[in-house]
Amino acid sequence: MMRTGSFAIVIMAAGKGTRLKSKRAKVLHEIAGKPLLAHVVQAARTLAAAPDIYVIIGHQAEEVRAAIAPLGVNFVLQAEQHGTGHAIMCAREQVQGYENILVLSGDVPLILPATIAALRDFHLAKKAAMTVLTAEPPDPFGYGRVIRAGAASDRVKAIVEQKALTRAQQKAREINSGIYAFATQPLFANIDRLSTANAHHEFYLTDMAALLVKAKKTVVALKAADAAEVLGANTLAELAALDATLRARKARELMRAGVSIYRPETCVIDPEVQIGPDTILEPFVQILGKTTIGSGCRIRSYSVISDSQIADNVLVRNGCIIHQSVVSDGALLGPYSHLRPASEIGEGAHVGNFVETKKTRMGKGSKANHLTYLGDSEIGDGVNVGAGTITCNYDGSKKHVTVIEDGAFVGSDSTLVAPVRIGKAAYVAAGSTITDNVPAEALALGRSRQITKEGWARRRREGLPRTKPEK
Ligand code: UD1
Ligand code: CA
Repeated sequence: MMRTGSFAIVIMAAGKGTRLKSKRAKVLHEIAGKPLLAHVVQAARTLAAAPDIYVIIGHQAEEVRAAIAPLGVNFVLQAEQHGTGHAIMCAREQVQGYENILVLSGDVPLILPATIAALRDFHLAKKAAMTVLTAEPPDPFGYGRVIRAGAASDRVKAIVEQKALTRAQQKAREINSGIYAFATQPLFANIDRLSTANAHHEFYLTDMAALLVKAKKTVVALKAADAAEVLGANTLAELAALDATLRARKARELMRAGVSIYRPETCVIDPEVQIGPDTILEPFVQILGKTTIGSGCRIRSYSVISDSQIADNVLVRNGCIIHQSVVSDGALLGPYSHLRPASEIGEGAHVGNFVETKKTRMGKGSKANHLTYLGDSEIGDGVNVGAGTITCNYDGSKKHVTVIEDGAFVGSDSTLVAPVRIGKAAYVAAGSTITDNVPAEALALGRSRQITKEGWARRRREGLPRTKPEK
Protein backbone atom coordinates (compact mmCIF):
# COMPACT_ATOMS: atom_id res chain seq x y z
CA MET A 1 0.00 0.00 0.00
CA MET A 2 1.36 3.34 -1.03
CA ARG A 3 1.27 6.17 1.49
CA THR A 4 0.39 9.35 -0.41
CA GLY A 5 3.00 12.05 -0.21
CA SER A 6 5.34 9.78 1.74
CA PHE A 7 9.11 10.04 1.31
CA ALA A 8 11.88 7.65 2.19
CA ILE A 9 15.51 8.61 2.06
CA VAL A 10 17.84 6.04 0.55
CA ILE A 11 21.59 6.46 1.02
CA MET A 12 23.88 4.49 -1.28
CA ALA A 13 26.93 3.40 0.69
CA ALA A 14 27.79 -0.10 -0.51
CA GLY A 15 30.65 0.74 -2.88
CA LYS A 16 34.25 -0.10 -2.26
CA GLY A 17 35.90 3.18 -3.16
CA THR A 18 38.63 1.62 -5.27
CA ARG A 19 40.15 5.01 -6.08
CA LEU A 20 41.04 5.65 -2.43
CA LYS A 21 43.53 2.73 -2.50
CA SER A 22 42.54 2.02 1.09
CA LYS A 23 41.50 -1.11 2.98
CA ARG A 24 38.81 0.89 4.76
CA ALA A 25 35.41 1.33 3.11
CA LYS A 26 35.17 4.76 1.51
CA VAL A 27 32.13 5.89 3.47
CA LEU A 28 33.99 5.23 6.75
CA HIS A 29 36.82 7.57 5.87
CA GLU A 30 36.52 10.66 8.01
CA ILE A 31 36.21 14.36 7.36
CA ALA A 32 35.76 16.86 10.18
CA GLY A 33 36.22 14.00 12.63
CA LYS A 34 33.29 11.91 11.39
CA PRO A 35 32.77 9.20 8.72
CA LEU A 36 31.53 10.52 5.36
CA LEU A 37 28.39 8.46 5.76
CA ALA A 38 27.64 9.94 9.19
CA HIS A 39 27.55 13.41 7.64
CA VAL A 40 25.04 12.26 5.04
CA VAL A 41 22.88 10.43 7.59
CA GLN A 42 22.90 13.51 9.79
CA ALA A 43 21.67 15.68 6.90
CA ALA A 44 18.97 13.08 6.17
CA ARG A 45 17.91 13.01 9.81
CA THR A 46 16.94 16.68 9.73
CA LEU A 47 14.42 15.88 6.96
CA ALA A 48 13.16 12.42 7.87
CA ALA A 49 12.68 10.21 10.90
CA ALA A 50 15.23 7.43 11.33
CA PRO A 51 12.67 4.67 10.43
CA ASP A 52 12.25 6.30 6.98
CA ILE A 53 15.99 6.27 6.22
CA TYR A 54 17.53 3.27 4.44
CA VAL A 55 21.27 2.90 4.11
CA ILE A 56 22.49 0.51 1.43
CA ILE A 57 25.57 -1.32 2.63
CA GLY A 58 27.75 -3.98 1.00
CA HIS A 59 31.48 -3.53 1.02
CA GLN A 60 32.58 -3.99 4.67
CA ALA A 61 28.89 -4.09 5.53
CA GLU A 62 29.43 -5.06 9.16
CA GLU A 63 31.91 -2.26 9.88
CA VAL A 64 29.67 0.29 8.19
CA ARG A 65 26.61 -1.01 10.03
CA ALA A 66 28.41 -0.85 13.38
CA ALA A 67 29.53 2.73 12.78
CA ILE A 68 26.08 3.97 11.77
CA ALA A 69 23.69 1.76 13.77
CA PRO A 70 23.64 4.18 16.74
CA LEU A 71 21.86 6.69 14.46
CA GLY A 72 18.87 4.32 14.36
CA VAL A 73 18.46 4.02 10.57
CA ASN A 74 17.51 0.91 8.52
CA PHE A 75 20.00 -1.08 6.50
CA VAL A 76 19.65 -2.73 3.11
CA LEU A 77 22.26 -5.29 2.12
CA GLN A 78 23.68 -5.14 -1.40
CA ALA A 79 25.82 -8.24 -1.01
CA GLU A 80 27.51 -7.89 -4.39
CA GLN A 81 27.93 -4.41 -5.75
CA HIS A 82 26.81 -4.18 -9.34
CA GLY A 83 26.43 -0.42 -9.51
CA THR A 84 24.22 2.41 -8.26
CA GLY A 85 21.19 1.13 -10.24
CA HIS A 86 21.63 -2.29 -8.67
CA ALA A 87 21.86 -0.69 -5.23
CA ILE A 88 18.38 0.78 -5.66
CA MET A 89 17.07 -2.54 -7.03
CA CYS A 90 18.17 -4.09 -3.73
CA ALA A 91 16.11 -1.56 -1.76
CA ARG A 92 12.92 -2.20 -3.75
CA GLU A 93 11.13 -4.38 -1.16
CA GLN A 94 11.73 -1.93 1.64
CA VAL A 95 10.95 1.36 -0.09
CA GLN A 96 8.34 0.69 -2.80
CA GLY A 97 5.56 1.47 -0.30
CA TYR A 98 6.61 5.11 -0.20
CA GLU A 99 5.27 7.41 -2.90
CA ASN A 100 8.67 9.04 -3.44
CA ILE A 101 12.27 8.44 -2.49
CA LEU A 102 15.17 10.79 -2.11
CA VAL A 103 18.45 9.13 -3.07
CA LEU A 104 21.66 10.40 -1.50
CA SER A 105 25.22 9.22 -2.02
CA GLY A 106 27.28 8.20 0.99
CA ASP A 107 30.32 9.86 -0.56
CA VAL A 108 28.73 13.29 -1.15
CA PRO A 109 28.92 14.49 2.46
CA LEU A 110 28.68 18.29 2.39
CA ILE A 111 25.10 18.36 1.21
CA LEU A 112 22.95 20.65 3.36
CA PRO A 113 19.42 19.70 4.45
CA ALA A 114 17.99 22.87 2.88
CA THR A 115 19.27 21.78 -0.53
CA ILE A 116 17.75 18.31 -0.19
CA ALA A 117 14.48 19.93 0.87
CA ALA A 118 14.59 22.21 -2.19
CA LEU A 119 15.10 19.13 -4.40
CA ARG A 120 12.11 17.40 -2.78
CA ASP A 121 9.88 20.45 -3.21
CA PHE A 122 10.95 21.02 -6.83
CA HIS A 123 10.32 17.34 -7.59
CA LEU A 124 6.79 17.54 -6.16
CA ALA A 125 6.03 20.86 -7.83
CA LYS A 126 7.09 19.46 -11.23
CA LYS A 127 5.22 16.19 -10.61
CA ALA A 128 8.36 14.55 -11.90
CA ALA A 129 9.25 10.88 -12.11
CA MET A 130 12.90 11.72 -11.54
CA THR A 131 14.63 14.92 -10.42
CA VAL A 132 18.39 15.24 -10.55
CA LEU A 133 20.32 17.63 -8.34
CA THR A 134 23.05 19.18 -10.48
CA ALA A 135 25.83 21.72 -10.12
CA GLU A 136 28.46 23.53 -12.15
CA PRO A 137 31.77 23.10 -10.35
CA PRO A 138 34.92 24.72 -11.74
CA ASP A 139 36.21 21.32 -12.86
CA PRO A 140 33.49 18.89 -13.99
CA PHE A 141 35.96 16.14 -14.96
CA GLY A 142 35.07 12.68 -13.69
CA TYR A 143 31.42 13.37 -12.98
CA GLY A 144 28.41 12.27 -14.97
CA ARG A 145 27.07 15.14 -17.08
CA VAL A 146 23.43 16.13 -17.24
CA ILE A 147 22.22 16.73 -20.76
CA ARG A 148 19.16 18.99 -20.80
CA ALA A 149 16.48 19.12 -23.49
CA GLY A 150 17.46 22.74 -24.10
CA ALA A 151 19.63 25.40 -22.51
CA ALA A 152 16.74 27.04 -20.68
CA SER A 153 14.77 23.85 -20.07
CA ASP A 154 14.15 22.02 -16.80
CA ARG A 155 13.85 18.83 -18.77
CA VAL A 156 16.65 16.26 -18.78
CA LYS A 157 17.32 14.02 -21.76
CA ALA A 158 20.04 11.86 -20.25
CA ILE A 159 22.90 11.58 -17.80
CA VAL A 160 26.14 10.56 -19.44
CA GLU A 161 29.10 9.22 -17.45
CA GLN A 162 32.54 10.74 -18.02
CA LYS A 163 33.86 7.74 -19.94
CA ALA A 164 30.88 7.73 -22.31
CA LEU A 165 30.89 11.44 -23.18
CA THR A 166 30.99 12.26 -26.84
CA ARG A 167 33.40 14.95 -27.94
CA ALA A 168 30.59 17.53 -28.02
CA GLN A 169 29.29 16.42 -24.59
CA GLN A 170 32.73 16.84 -23.03
CA LYS A 171 32.08 20.57 -23.06
CA ALA A 172 29.01 20.08 -20.84
CA ARG A 173 29.67 21.70 -17.48
CA GLU A 174 26.58 20.64 -15.55
CA ILE A 175 27.34 17.62 -13.41
CA ASN A 176 25.17 14.98 -11.79
CA SER A 177 25.55 15.29 -8.02
CA GLY A 178 24.49 11.67 -7.41
CA ILE A 179 21.50 13.01 -5.45
CA TYR A 180 18.00 12.43 -6.83
CA ALA A 181 14.31 12.37 -6.11
CA PHE A 182 12.19 9.61 -7.69
CA ALA A 183 8.53 8.77 -7.79
CA THR A 184 8.76 5.10 -6.77
CA GLN A 185 6.04 3.79 -9.10
CA PRO A 186 7.72 4.73 -12.41
CA LEU A 187 11.17 4.02 -10.94
CA PHE A 188 10.43 0.40 -10.09
CA ALA A 189 8.26 -0.09 -13.17
CA ASN A 190 11.32 0.68 -15.32
CA ILE A 191 14.36 -0.21 -13.23
CA ASP A 192 14.62 -3.74 -14.67
CA ARG A 193 15.33 -2.18 -18.05
CA LEU A 194 18.75 -1.00 -16.84
CA SER A 195 21.60 -2.80 -18.56
CA THR A 196 25.29 -3.33 -17.86
CA ALA A 197 26.40 -2.38 -21.38
CA ASN A 198 28.87 0.28 -20.21
CA ALA A 199 32.52 0.84 -19.28
CA HIS A 200 32.16 -0.71 -15.80
CA HIS A 201 29.64 -3.44 -16.66
CA GLU A 202 27.42 -2.12 -13.90
CA PHE A 203 23.79 -1.07 -13.59
CA TYR A 204 23.97 2.73 -13.59
CA LEU A 205 21.20 4.56 -11.74
CA THR A 206 22.00 7.48 -14.01
CA ASP A 207 20.58 5.54 -16.98
CA MET A 208 17.14 5.85 -15.38
CA ALA A 209 16.99 9.38 -16.77
CA ALA A 210 16.95 8.29 -20.41
CA LEU A 211 14.80 5.22 -19.63
CA LEU A 212 12.12 7.34 -17.96
CA VAL A 213 12.21 9.89 -20.79
CA LYS A 214 11.68 7.00 -23.19
CA ALA A 215 8.70 5.86 -21.08
CA LYS A 216 7.26 9.40 -21.52
CA LYS A 217 7.86 10.34 -17.89
CA THR A 218 8.99 13.73 -16.62
CA VAL A 219 12.68 13.97 -15.74
CA VAL A 220 13.91 17.36 -14.53
CA ALA A 221 17.05 18.90 -13.09
CA LEU A 222 17.55 21.37 -10.26
CA LYS A 223 20.87 23.16 -10.08
CA ALA A 224 22.38 23.66 -6.62
CA ALA A 225 23.45 27.24 -5.97
CA ASP A 226 26.72 26.18 -4.37
CA ALA A 227 28.67 23.51 -6.25
CA ALA A 228 30.91 22.95 -3.22
CA GLU A 229 28.00 21.24 -1.45
CA VAL A 230 27.72 18.40 -3.93
CA LEU A 231 31.35 17.55 -4.53
CA GLY A 232 32.08 13.86 -4.14
CA ALA A 233 35.06 12.20 -2.54
CA ASN A 234 36.59 9.58 -4.77
CA THR A 235 40.27 10.10 -3.93
CA LEU A 236 42.16 10.95 -0.74
CA ALA A 237 43.00 14.35 -2.21
CA GLU A 238 39.30 15.08 -2.76
CA LEU A 239 38.62 13.90 0.79
CA ALA A 240 41.20 16.33 2.13
CA ALA A 241 39.60 19.15 0.12
CA LEU A 242 36.16 18.37 1.57
CA ASP A 243 37.64 18.25 5.07
CA ALA A 244 39.20 21.67 4.50
CA THR A 245 35.83 23.04 3.34
CA LEU A 246 34.10 21.83 6.50
CA ARG A 247 36.91 23.10 8.75
CA ALA A 248 36.72 26.50 7.09
CA ARG A 249 32.91 26.55 7.53
CA LYS A 250 33.38 25.87 11.27
CA ALA A 251 36.15 28.45 11.69
CA ARG A 252 34.04 31.12 9.97
CA GLU A 253 31.09 30.30 12.25
CA LEU A 254 33.30 30.74 15.35
CA MET A 255 34.86 33.95 14.06
CA ARG A 256 31.38 35.35 13.46
CA ALA A 257 30.68 34.59 17.14
CA GLY A 258 33.71 36.55 18.33
CA VAL A 259 36.48 33.95 18.45
CA SER A 260 39.83 35.10 17.05
CA ILE A 261 41.55 32.41 15.01
CA TYR A 262 45.00 33.26 13.74
CA ARG A 263 45.68 31.45 10.47
CA PRO A 264 42.41 29.50 10.57
CA GLU A 265 43.56 27.32 7.68
CA THR A 266 46.05 25.66 10.05
CA CYS A 267 43.53 24.89 12.81
CA VAL A 268 41.46 21.73 13.12
CA ILE A 269 38.16 22.31 14.90
CA ASP A 270 35.45 19.65 15.05
CA PRO A 271 31.86 20.62 14.26
CA GLU A 272 30.44 20.20 17.78
CA VAL A 273 33.08 22.36 19.49
CA GLN A 274 31.80 25.49 21.26
CA ILE A 275 34.00 28.49 22.04
CA GLY A 276 33.12 31.75 23.76
CA PRO A 277 33.88 35.26 22.48
CA ASP A 278 37.28 36.91 22.99
CA THR A 279 39.03 33.59 23.04
CA ILE A 280 42.10 33.42 20.81
CA LEU A 281 43.26 30.33 18.97
CA GLU A 282 46.81 30.52 17.74
CA PRO A 283 47.99 28.72 14.58
CA PHE A 284 48.06 24.90 14.50
CA VAL A 285 45.72 24.13 17.38
CA GLN A 286 43.31 21.21 17.30
CA ILE A 287 40.03 21.42 19.23
CA LEU A 288 38.24 18.11 18.91
CA GLY A 289 35.13 16.15 19.84
CA LYS A 290 32.65 17.70 22.26
CA THR A 291 35.01 20.31 23.68
CA THR A 292 33.72 23.58 25.09
CA ILE A 293 35.96 26.57 25.76
CA GLY A 294 34.77 29.70 27.56
CA SER A 295 35.54 33.29 26.76
CA GLY A 296 38.77 35.22 27.16
CA CYS A 297 40.96 32.14 26.83
CA ARG A 298 44.10 31.83 24.78
CA ILE A 299 45.09 28.53 23.26
CA ARG A 300 48.66 28.67 22.07
CA SER A 301 50.08 26.83 19.08
CA TYR A 302 50.32 23.03 18.87
CA SER A 303 47.88 22.32 21.68
CA VAL A 304 45.39 19.51 21.15
CA ILE A 305 42.22 19.60 23.24
CA SER A 306 39.62 16.85 22.97
CA ASP A 307 36.32 16.15 24.76
CA SER A 308 37.13 18.65 27.50
CA GLN A 309 35.57 21.64 29.23
CA ILE A 310 37.73 24.72 29.56
CA ALA A 311 36.18 27.62 31.54
CA ASP A 312 36.90 31.35 31.05
CA ASN A 313 40.24 33.19 30.98
CA VAL A 314 42.31 30.03 30.79
CA LEU A 315 45.76 30.20 29.23
CA VAL A 316 46.86 27.02 27.52
CA ARG A 317 50.46 27.51 26.50
CA ASN A 318 52.13 25.77 23.61
CA GLY A 319 52.03 22.04 23.06
CA CYS A 320 49.50 20.89 25.66
CA ILE A 321 47.47 17.71 25.26
CA ILE A 322 44.17 17.81 27.11
CA HIS A 323 41.75 14.89 26.92
CA GLN A 324 38.46 14.34 28.77
CA SER A 325 39.34 16.89 31.40
CA VAL A 326 37.85 19.94 33.08
CA VAL A 327 39.77 23.19 33.57
CA SER A 328 38.37 26.01 35.73
CA ASP A 329 38.53 29.80 35.33
CA GLY A 330 41.88 31.47 35.14
CA ALA A 331 43.96 28.29 35.19
CA LEU A 332 47.32 28.29 33.48
CA LEU A 333 48.57 25.23 31.65
CA GLY A 334 51.76 24.32 29.86
CA PRO A 335 53.83 24.60 27.89
CA TYR A 336 53.74 20.83 27.29
CA SER A 337 51.28 19.73 29.94
CA HIS A 338 49.46 16.44 29.47
CA LEU A 339 46.01 16.23 31.04
CA ARG A 340 44.70 12.71 30.74
CA PRO A 341 41.10 11.60 31.38
CA ALA A 342 39.32 12.84 34.51
CA SER A 343 41.76 15.59 35.36
CA GLU A 344 40.06 18.54 37.04
CA ILE A 345 42.16 21.64 37.34
CA GLY A 346 40.84 24.22 39.81
CA GLU A 347 40.41 27.96 39.52
CA GLY A 348 43.68 29.77 38.98
CA ALA A 349 45.71 26.58 39.33
CA HIS A 350 48.99 26.13 37.44
CA VAL A 351 50.09 22.99 35.65
CA GLY A 352 53.45 23.53 34.07
CA ASN A 353 55.85 21.96 31.62
CA PHE A 354 56.13 18.19 31.42
CA VAL A 355 53.49 17.68 34.05
CA GLU A 356 51.14 14.74 33.49
CA THR A 357 47.86 14.36 35.35
CA LYS A 358 45.35 11.52 35.29
CA LYS A 359 42.18 11.16 37.36
CA THR A 360 43.42 14.00 39.49
CA ARG A 361 41.53 16.86 41.08
CA MET A 362 43.61 19.92 41.76
CA GLY A 363 42.17 22.66 43.99
CA LYS A 364 42.01 26.41 43.66
CA GLY A 365 45.37 28.12 43.18
CA SER A 366 47.42 24.93 43.52
CA LYS A 367 50.61 24.59 41.51
CA ALA A 368 52.57 21.78 39.90
CA ASN A 369 54.90 23.66 37.67
CA HIS A 370 57.58 21.25 36.51
CA LEU A 371 58.26 17.62 35.55
CA THR A 372 55.63 15.88 37.64
CA TYR A 373 53.24 12.92 37.50
CA LEU A 374 49.99 13.20 39.42
CA GLY A 375 47.77 10.12 39.01
CA ASP A 376 44.68 9.19 41.07
CA SER A 377 45.23 12.20 43.30
CA GLU A 378 43.09 14.56 45.29
CA ILE A 379 44.92 17.81 45.76
CA GLY A 380 43.40 20.58 47.88
CA ASP A 381 43.58 24.34 47.51
CA GLY A 382 46.81 26.32 47.66
CA VAL A 383 49.06 23.25 47.43
CA ASN A 384 52.57 23.54 46.05
CA VAL A 385 53.85 20.43 44.31
CA GLY A 386 57.59 20.74 43.78
CA ALA A 387 59.47 19.94 40.59
CA GLY A 388 59.84 16.27 39.81
CA THR A 389 57.21 15.02 42.26
CA ILE A 390 55.81 11.61 41.41
CA THR A 391 52.70 9.94 42.78
CA CYS A 392 53.38 6.20 42.79
CA ASN A 393 49.76 5.22 42.20
CA TYR A 394 50.22 1.72 40.79
CA ASP A 395 51.48 -1.28 42.71
CA GLY A 396 51.53 -3.60 39.73
CA SER A 397 47.96 -4.75 40.16
CA LYS A 398 45.89 -1.95 41.71
CA LYS A 399 45.70 1.83 41.55
CA HIS A 400 45.82 3.79 44.84
CA VAL A 401 44.92 7.32 45.79
CA THR A 402 47.23 10.10 46.98
CA VAL A 403 45.60 12.89 48.99
CA ILE A 404 47.37 16.21 49.51
CA GLU A 405 45.37 18.53 51.73
CA ASP A 406 45.01 22.32 51.53
CA GLY A 407 48.13 24.42 51.84
CA ALA A 408 50.57 21.50 51.89
CA PHE A 409 54.06 21.90 50.43
CA VAL A 410 55.68 18.97 48.67
CA GLY A 411 59.40 19.49 48.15
CA SER A 412 61.01 18.78 44.81
CA ASP A 413 61.82 15.25 43.70
CA SER A 414 59.50 13.60 46.20
CA THR A 415 57.88 10.26 45.57
CA LEU A 416 54.53 9.76 47.24
CA VAL A 417 53.80 6.05 47.51
CA ALA A 418 50.01 5.64 47.45
CA PRO A 419 47.80 5.11 49.30
CA VAL A 420 49.11 8.04 51.27
CA ARG A 421 47.86 11.32 52.72
CA ILE A 422 49.73 14.58 53.26
CA GLY A 423 47.85 16.57 55.90
CA LYS A 424 46.81 20.20 55.82
CA ALA A 425 49.71 22.68 55.61
CA ALA A 426 52.25 19.88 56.10
CA TYR A 427 55.72 19.93 54.55
CA VAL A 428 57.48 17.14 52.71
CA ALA A 429 61.22 17.70 52.49
CA ALA A 430 62.77 17.66 49.03
CA GLY A 431 63.90 14.27 47.82
CA SER A 432 61.65 12.32 50.18
CA THR A 433 60.08 8.97 49.57
CA ILE A 434 56.83 9.14 51.52
CA THR A 435 55.19 5.86 52.43
CA ASP A 436 53.35 6.87 55.61
CA ASN A 437 50.67 9.50 56.10
CA VAL A 438 51.96 12.92 57.12
CA PRO A 439 49.81 14.67 59.76
CA ALA A 440 48.65 18.26 59.35
CA GLU A 441 51.31 20.90 60.04
CA ALA A 442 54.10 18.26 60.25
CA LEU A 443 57.41 18.07 58.38
CA ALA A 444 58.21 14.68 56.88
CA LEU A 445 61.74 13.77 55.81
CA GLY A 446 61.94 10.55 53.93
CA ARG A 447 65.59 10.42 52.93
CA SER A 448 68.96 9.49 54.46
CA ARG A 449 71.12 12.18 55.99
CA GLN A 450 73.90 13.74 53.99
CA ILE A 451 77.49 12.69 54.70
CA THR A 452 80.18 15.29 53.91
CA LYS A 453 83.83 14.22 53.71
CA GLU A 454 86.15 17.22 54.03
CA GLY A 455 89.18 17.20 51.72
CA TRP A 456 88.14 13.99 49.95
CA ALA A 457 88.58 15.36 46.44
CA ARG A 458 92.07 16.74 47.10
CA ARG A 459 93.28 13.46 48.59
CA ARG A 460 91.96 11.58 45.59
CA ARG A 461 93.84 13.87 43.27
CA GLU A 462 97.06 13.45 45.19
CA GLY A 463 96.80 9.66 45.37
CA LEU A 464 96.45 9.68 49.16
CA PRO A 465 94.06 7.37 51.03
CA ARG A 466 90.61 8.91 50.69
CA THR A 467 89.62 8.23 54.26
CA LYS A 468 91.84 9.87 56.86
CA PRO A 469 93.88 7.31 58.80
CA GLU A 470 92.74 6.96 62.43
CA LYS A 471 94.92 8.87 64.85
C1 UD1 B 1 28.23 8.62 -9.51
C2 UD1 B 1 27.34 8.88 -10.72
C3 UD1 B 1 27.87 10.13 -11.45
C4 UD1 B 1 27.88 11.31 -10.49
C5 UD1 B 1 28.69 11.00 -9.23
C6 UD1 B 1 28.51 12.11 -8.24
C7 UD1 B 1 26.63 6.65 -11.43
C8 UD1 B 1 26.77 5.59 -12.44
N1 UD1 B 1 27.39 7.73 -11.59
O1 UD1 B 1 29.53 8.32 -9.97
O2 UD1 B 1 27.02 10.41 -12.55
O3 UD1 B 1 28.42 12.44 -11.16
O4 UD1 B 1 28.22 9.78 -8.65
O5 UD1 B 1 29.31 11.95 -7.12
O6 UD1 B 1 25.83 6.52 -10.54
N2 UD1 B 1 27.36 2.51 -4.51
C9 UD1 B 1 26.59 1.48 -4.00
N3 UD1 B 1 26.55 0.30 -4.69
C10 UD1 B 1 27.23 0.11 -5.83
C11 UD1 B 1 28.00 1.17 -6.35
C12 UD1 B 1 28.04 2.37 -5.68
O7 UD1 B 1 25.97 1.61 -2.95
O8 UD1 B 1 27.12 -1.00 -6.38
C13 UD1 B 1 27.42 3.77 -3.77
C14 UD1 B 1 28.84 4.18 -3.38
O9 UD1 B 1 29.19 3.64 -2.10
C15 UD1 B 1 28.77 5.69 -3.39
C16 UD1 B 1 27.68 6.00 -4.39
O10 UD1 B 1 26.95 4.81 -4.56
O11 UD1 B 1 28.45 6.19 -2.12
C17 UD1 B 1 28.24 6.49 -5.74
O12 UD1 B 1 29.07 5.47 -6.27
P1 UD1 B 1 30.47 5.82 -6.98
O13 UD1 B 1 31.08 4.55 -7.43
O14 UD1 B 1 31.28 6.70 -6.12
O15 UD1 B 1 29.94 6.62 -8.25
P2 UD1 B 1 30.72 7.74 -9.09
O16 UD1 B 1 31.65 7.08 -10.00
O17 UD1 B 1 31.24 8.78 -8.21
CA1 CA C 1 31.50 8.98 -6.06
